[in-house]
Amino acid sequence: MALSPLSLNIFLYLLLTFSLAKEISARSEPSSESLAQQEADRVKKLPGQPPVDFKQYAGYVTVNETRGRALFYWFFEATDKPHEKPVLLWLNGGPGCSSIGYGEAEELGPFFPQNGSEPRLKFNPYSWNKAANLLFVESPVGVGFSYTNTSSDLTELGDTMTAKDSYMFLINWFQRFPQFKSHEFFIAGESYAGHYVPQLSELIFEANKKASKEYYINFKGFMIGNAAMDDEADQTGMIDYAWDHAVISDRLYRDIKSKCNFSEQTGSDDCIRALMEYFQVYEIIDMYSLYTPTCIENSTDINITRTRRGPSIQGIAPHFFSKFDGWHRRPAGYDPCSSDYTSQYLNRADVQEALHANVTKVSYPWTRCSLRIRNWQDSPSSMLPTIKKLVAGGLRIWVYSGDTDGRVPVTSTRYALRKLGLPIVEDWTPWYSNRQVGGWTIGYKGLMFATIRGAGHEVPLFAPKQSLQLLLYDITLRGVSVTFSADKISEFLGIAKRESPSYPDWEEEIVDRLILSNSELYKLLTGKEEVQTTCQTSLTVP
Ligand SMILES: *[C@@H]1O[C@H](CO)[C@@H](O)[C@H](O)[C@H]1NC(C)=O
Ligand SMILES: *[C@@H]1O[C@H](CO)[C@@H](O)[C@H](O)[C@H]1NC(C)=O
Ligand SMILES: *[C@@H]1O[C@H](CO)[C@@H](O)[C@H](O)[C@H]1NC(C)=O
Ligand SMILES: *[C@@H]1O[C@H](CO)[C@@H](O)[C@H](O)[C@H]1NC(C)=O
Ligand SMILES: *[C@@H]1O[C@H](CO)[C@@H](O)[C@H](O)[C@H]1NC(C)=O
Ligand SMILES: *[C@@H]1O[C@H](CO)[C@@H](O)[C@H](O)[C@H]1NC(C)=O
Ligand SMILES: *[C@@H]1O[C@H](CO)[C@@H](O)[C@H](O)[C@H]1NC(C)=O
Repeated sequence: MALSPLSLNIFLYLLLTFSLAKEISARSEPSSESLAQQEADRVKKLPGQPPVDFKQYAGYVTVNETRGRALFYWFFEATDKPHEKPVLLWLNGGPGCSSIGYGEAEELGPFFPQNGSEPRLKFNPYSWNKAANLLFVESPVGVGFSYTNTSSDLTELGDTMTAKDSYMFLINWFQRFPQFKSHEFFIAGESYAGHYVPQLSELIFEANKKASKEYYINFKGFMIGNAAMDDEADQTGMIDYAWDHAVISDRLYRDIKSKCNFSEQTGSDDCIRALMEYFQVYEIIDMYSLYTPTCIENSTDINITRTRRGPSIQGIAPHFFSKFDGWHRRPAGYDPCSSDYTSQYLNRADVQEALHANVTKVSYPWTRCSLRIRNWQDSPSSMLPTIKKLVAGGLRIWVYSGDTDGRVPVTSTRYALRKLGLPIVEDWTPWYSNRQVGGWTIGYKGLMFATIRGAGHEVPLFAPKQSLQLLLYDITLRGVSVTFSADKISEFLGIAKRESPSYPDWEEEIVDRLILSNSELYKLLTGKEEVQTTCQTSLTVP
């Protein structure tokens, strides 16, 4: 099912009737012990924070007692009716980059640190906690505020340990917040989280088969954006995209094509030379967002060169590129200096205290990408077999791509999806935002792919409204039949009634207003309004 005008429209009704359709299932009431833990993690107010109505929590969850490993989380209840909304975990990639530094602070969280002499947070009107209870975790240990008391752990890190610790985190987090255990649970992430998300999903999927009720996670699906999925497809796509977007010369393109074989684990010397030339381009333009400016302001960041680019981690996939600086360069956004504000903010002692962070007083500062992780032990060259298994397992799976990212470009994702080889259910269809084509979708059997036009690597940063729109669509699709009244909704929203609404304008107006006023809509729709139209949707999720 794509975000075609009609289906987007149906999605809105699904969203609107979310609270009608959902039974308030039997909830586990927190014990007094978990209530006390929650209260201890409650974030009352952060320096420079605007007032908000939702609750937030932050703190540590121990994931391995013998080694003393603990992951740091920051959790935001949904802005409206949190007890009826799903829980969504967001993960950034790297490996070694912080979900709080990227996801929370500049992409999809409620609070974005701002520039200035005083600490200041801006409320993000497109925060994803409009749609879900939103959980950010810094993973694995060594990233952000997450730590280990056994420093040798840092040399053992890799995909496997990351997934295991994240799973332990979830089990223990749900013990601390049992009132959310019955909620539908989703995972989303971008970039190298194209590894983390399917791997964690597989662990949950397998563990759930034998889990007792206490440890069962009500896991429904996942979403990955500009995601590393398959080394060969990712690397080939990256080079093809660079040539096609006038980033490299014909000569260099031919050189790379003739000298590199991306199905192999390492390149010949000639190949490496060609790739070095290729990466030089991205010293001067932003690989993660081809058409936005780079930060040239003087920076007070801890170590701007190193934080921006991250350290050189040995051993990560794609194996070819881990040697190059470009691999670790981090993107900038509309404000290309926003990463500096985030590290200034999170390194403040009063902020750390308010967040219950850094309680063990580690010896190094908070950085967006870890300076401590230098080795990465394991990283499969393709996630496609895992994704295929989870598709077969009936999970709801979305893949999306901002189409101006040069790092894991849309071309790479399309090559990877082609390799996956799922039958097409609904071919290339536009979806709309701001009355313009927001991108295209393609529905495969068991997997949905959406592009976001004009967005870079961090899609929610470049296209906040569009990505929230996609998220709402994703997590509210339940295959239920829904009753609704189109006229009533139009009337309530003050949108002129039209005999035959002209798509996409009409639905766009609804989206705009919906984001601002969905609590009022819920009220309206859960009242005693006459139902006038019945829409039997056939929105069984592919
Ligand atoms: C703790 O971590 C170590 C090393 O990563 C592992 O061998 C051990 O099994 C873990 N303990 C538990 C209880 O998971
Ligand atoms: C790590 O060590 C510190 C200091 O001994 C201790 O307070 C903390 O609880 C330990 N962390 C874990 C996860 O065991
Ligand atoms: C950031 O804030 C500092 C101090 O208030 C100011 O000097 C600087 O011009 C600001 N930078 C931007 C990009 O606004
Ligand atoms: C590239 O490497 C793969 C794996 O080693 C090999 O099967 C393939 O034949 C190579 N392709 C070319 C064009 O050499
Ligand atoms: C800012 O950059 C300029 C030029 O590189 C340099 O001369 C100046 O000292 C820098 N200022 C600060 C505060 O770092
Ligand atoms: C910043 O990183 C560079 C490159 O690794 C290093 O040489 C330098 O000492 C670092 N500076 C500080 C202040 O940590
Ligand atoms: C933790 O606190 C110590 C002592 O205040 C500080 O030096 C260090 O930079 C902090 N580290 C992090 C990761 O916040």
